[in-house]
Amino acid sequence: MAAIIDGKTISLQIKDELKQKAAEMKKQGINVTLAVIQVGDNPASCVYVRNKKKGCEYIGIGSLSYELPEETTQQELLDLIQELNGRKDVNGILVQLPLPSHIDEDTVIRAIDPKKDVDGFHPQSVGALCIGQPGFVSCTPAGIIQLLKRSGIEIAGKECVVLGRSNIVGKPMSLLLLRENATVTIAHSRTKELKEVTSRADILIVAIGKPKMITRDYVKPGAVVIDVGINRDADNKLCGDVDFEDVEPICSAITPVPGGVGPMTIAMLLNNCIESVNLQ
Ligand code: GUN
Repeated sequence: MAAIIDGKTISLQIKDELKQKAAEMKKQGINVTLAVIQVGDNPASCVYVRNKKKGCEYIGIGSLSYELPEETTQQELLDLIQELNGRKDVNGILVQLPLPSHIDEDTVIRAIDPKKDVDGFHPQSVGALCIGQPGFVSCTPAGIIQLLKRSGIEIAGKECVVLGRSNIVGKPMSLLLLRENATVTIAHSRTKELKEVTSRADILIVAIGKPKMITRDYVKPGAVVIDVGINRDADNKLCGDVDFEDVEPICSAITPVPGGVGPMTIAMLLNNCIESVNLQ
C-alpha cells in the first residue's frame, strides 16, 4: 500500500501561507496584481483561467482579466503585453496557452517582461533556472518539488527519471531535481528499453500525455511515482499517465489524478506572484 500524496491538502497549506504573506505586504502598502490574458475560448483554458482568478481572490491579491476574441491579431496581443509590461500596478503577466494557430507562442512569451513572467516560460527565466540564478520557475515542476519536500521525501542522491521532455514540465523538472542534488535521467518517446530506464527510478515523474500508459512493469517496487498527466479514459473519467490501480500496490508513494499535481500548479503560480515583488 502506497502513501497517497495529497496535492489538494498541500496546495491549500501553501495558499494559506501565501494569504498571510499577502496580508503582511498589504499592511506595508504593497498590493500584488496578476494580469491574466486568454485569447479565444478553449474550454480547458476557460477552466484554468477561472481557477487562477479564484486563487488570486483566495490569497487576497488582485487579478486583471483580459478575455480576447479568437480573431485577436498577434500585434494586438503584443500591444497589450507592452502596456502591461509598463504598468507599475501589474506584477505578473500570464498568457494562457495554447494560443490560436495564427499567433506565434514563442514571440508572445518573449514579449513578456522577464520580471513579470510568473509562468516562468521566458527564455531568460529558463536560462536563469539552468545556471542557478534567481528567476521565475515553471509552476508545475516547482509544485512537484513542493509535493515531494512537504511529504518528507528526500531528493538528494536519488535516482530520478523524468518521462517527458516538454518545455513546460519535463525540461524544467529535470533542472529542478538536479538543483536538489538528484541523479537525473530524462526519458521520452524515442528512449530505447524504456521499461528498463524507468525501473531504475527511486522517484519517477511521468509527463508523457498518454492515458494510463505506465503500468507496474515500468516501476521499481518501493518507488515514488508522480503523475503529471490529465487525460480522459474510455468512460470519460479523468485519469493520469499512470495506471493508478495497477501501480499503487507496489510503490511507496503516488499522486492521484485528480488531486495530485494539478492543484499545485496554481499554488505555485500564486507563489510566483508574491515573489515577483522581490524581483521587481
Ligand atoms: N496551458 C497549460 N498549462 C499552462 C500553464 O501552466 N500556463 C499557461 N500560461 N498556459 C498553460
